[in-house]
Amino acid sequence: MCLGASAGRAVLAARCGSVPNVEVPYDDPVTPDVLYLRASGTSLVLELADDLLPVVRHWGSDLGDLTDEDLAALGTAARVAFFDSPFDVADQVTVLPEHARAWIGRPGVEGSREGRDWSPAFRTSGPATTSTEPDGTQRVVVRGADATAYLEVVLELELHPGGLLRVRSTLTNTGHDTYTLGAVRHVLPVPEVAGELLDFTGRHTYERVPQRQPFSAGVHSREVRTGRTGLDAVHLLCAGEPGFGFRHGQVWAVHLGWSGNQQAYAERLHNGARVLGAGEALEHGELRLAHGESCTTPWLYAAHGTGLDEVTARFHAFSRSRPHAPSRPRPVTLNTWEAVYFDQSLERLTALADAGAAVGTERFVLDDGWFGGRCDDTTSLGDWTVSPDVWPDGLQPLIDHVHGLGMEFGLWVEPEMVSIDSDLARAHPEWIFAAGGRRGLESRQQHVLDLGHPGAYAHVRDQLVRLLQTYDIAYLKWDHNRYLNDAGHTPGGEAGVRAHTLAAYRLMDELIAARPGLEIESCAGGGGRVDLGVMERCVRVWASDCIDPLERQQIQRWTFALLPPGWVGTHVGSPRAHTTGRRHDLSFRGETAIWGHLGIEWDLTRATPEELAELGEWVAFHKAHRDLLHEGVVVNADHPDEAVWVHGVVAVDGAEALYSVTSLGRPVTTGPGRVRLPGLDPTRRYRASVPTPGTELRREGRGVVPWTREGVVTTGRVLAEVGLPMIPLLPEHSHLIHLEEVR
Ligand code: GLA
Repeated sequence: MCLGASAGRAVLAARCGSVPNVEVPYDDPVTPDVLYLRASGTSLVLELADDLLPVVRHWGSDLGDLTDEDLAALGTAARVAFFDSPFDVADQVTVLPEHARAWIGRPGVEGSREGRDWSPAFRTSGPATTSTEPDGTQRVVVRGADATAYLEVVLELELHPGGLLRVRSTLTNTGHDTYTLGAVRHVLPVPEVAGELLDFTGRHTYERVPQRQPFSAGVHSREVRTGRTGLDAVHLLCAGEPGFGFRHGQVWAVHLGWSGNQQAYAERLHNGARVLGAGEALEHGELRLAHGESCTTPWLYAAHGTGLDEVTARFHAFSRSRPHAPSRPRPVTLNTWEAVYFDQSLERLTALADAGAAVGTERFVLDDGWFGGRCDDTTSLGDWTVSPDVWPDGLQPLIDHVHGLGMEFGLWVEPEMVSIDSDLARAHPEWIFAAGGRRGLESRQQHVLDLGHPGAYAHVRDQLVRLLQTYDIAYLKWDHNRYLNDAGHTPGGEAGVRAHTLAAYRLMDELIAARPGLEIESCAGGGGRVDLGVMERCVRVWASDCIDPLERQQIQRWTFALLPPGWVGTHVGSPRAHTTGRRHDLSFRGETAIWGHLGIEWDLTRATPEELAELGEWVAFHKAHRDLLHEGVVVNADHPDEAVWVHGVVAVDGAEALYSVTSLGRPVTTGPGRVRLPGLDPTRRYRASVPTPGTELRREGRGVVPWTREGVVTTGRVLAEVGLPMIPLLPEHSHLIHLEEVR
């Protein structure tokens, strides 16, 4: 059956019994339905044998129009011959893989009833339900049950119009005794050509560091057990043709939309199977289903592309289509953290707001230090009432001032945390996570408030709702600064990360409902909670506590690989980066920050008039190009010299583009060479120019090569294949190239 607008043919029923040497491990006659889904250059071919969960026969490039016969051949051709197979049947790798179907890798469902029913074999009950949603999403729902293990599953699979695929399951225990789950993982197969893996690691102030390795036999598994997506999050797990880049090489990528403990892995077996999989990482006994109880897994997201840029485009199209995707321009933000840290006062912050407004900021975010007795990071988390010492007249005078300057007001909160020195901890020590009767280690001198306790949840919700009712707060920067390791739910000490993560989602949803229009930024010690689970309710991530532009080049490059730039906070910091001690010209700081949701995190009351004027030019430039920057198609060039990075955005209609050329270090060659500008319409003609908002490129009269003086007009194909002569750049400097279609 073909779904979706580009779909051509209806149900295919092919009888596989006629194919020599290929059988499925059941006595029943086999009549697989094949579902053929297509969207924006991605094809998905699902085989649904009479009683099997879906088997992916193809996930990758669009296969074009296919006849029933073509699809039948695909099913046959895709089956691995089993000359040396341990089983007398062909492998059936369902998206929830089962040992009972000859899968010899990690099982999809791990669990048991005190040791029994640990190897479920689901039989589908009735045909798959297929539908096409109003937005063009093609949905397949398959219901299955294991009558022996007393488990039911509802598997949902969606192919979104931009080509993003996602899958999740809901499991129900229909037995009388409790079923304890250790894992529920989904997998998607990738072909043998996917010989190289790319995933990410990182740490505080150094998030999303790529790592590559061959797709070797065995399991490459990445686990996060710190109760949040992780500063070292796997982010995207990609398998591709060796050497795949942004613009070349086929690549398949998965991402788990989940903000708690998780696992993502690439598994290669001796029978030739290669899969990418992911699921929640559950601690022992953490997920126990009593009779009739269900659990739903996080979505596993997946995208295929030729080059990483195509994978990214699919993720971006999905995020931009979400109902809560911002519909108004992203307000340029002034954040107080690196400007004043804990040194808050009305006088200081109104002066900062004045300076921010003068350079064009549109939102003022009061960071940590405004509540309880908070004067440093040892105290008061959990007491979400305005500090009477710091703000004797409450926040209203500051908010009035901010509003008077035409800016929105936003506030930092860390609702999942508690300081031992807090009224909350003194009143309710039992709400603090504690496994085995011990409270666990401190981290940043704070503990985690277990939102799995209804009382703890209600306490935080009520305090935050009161704040939102008292003040006009348009925005919350929602932080999460420490690990949830050893996180036991009192009094028994059962593992509590899962319940806590779901409660944190619920709390965000409730606050958004309580204050319509409220926007939430996901921050976790910087970029420790960047995932499509939390982004079902947030509209911005704080990509990193490091705003050194040199580091930010990499952090943003890879954060943008998942999230549209307008969803990623990118700030201009002070001349000397607080986290690295490096100094950078404002041109590099500004040019690096304009690409995302622009902000400023710098004590502007100490900036010189020249700096303020230049900063104002960067803000104005960003605002003038904000639609293009935030709605355009993200492109990256595979530049041969690693010291030179080229990235940009191309307007959806192809009429305009903006690129950045950055010299991260000193190029190996003496001549600057050429830069290729990918992603333009090859047949249209463009005029290239070099905008120089407030940069020393302009002041020093450097950066003049013949084409920048006279401008150049040529085709998108020439710009992509031949490129433009590069402007000589000092290390750790950038310049822009603007392209406009010439009609
Ligand atoms: C975390 C955040 C910072 C800042 C501090 C405040 O580290 O990432 O941006 O908000 O907390 O304590």
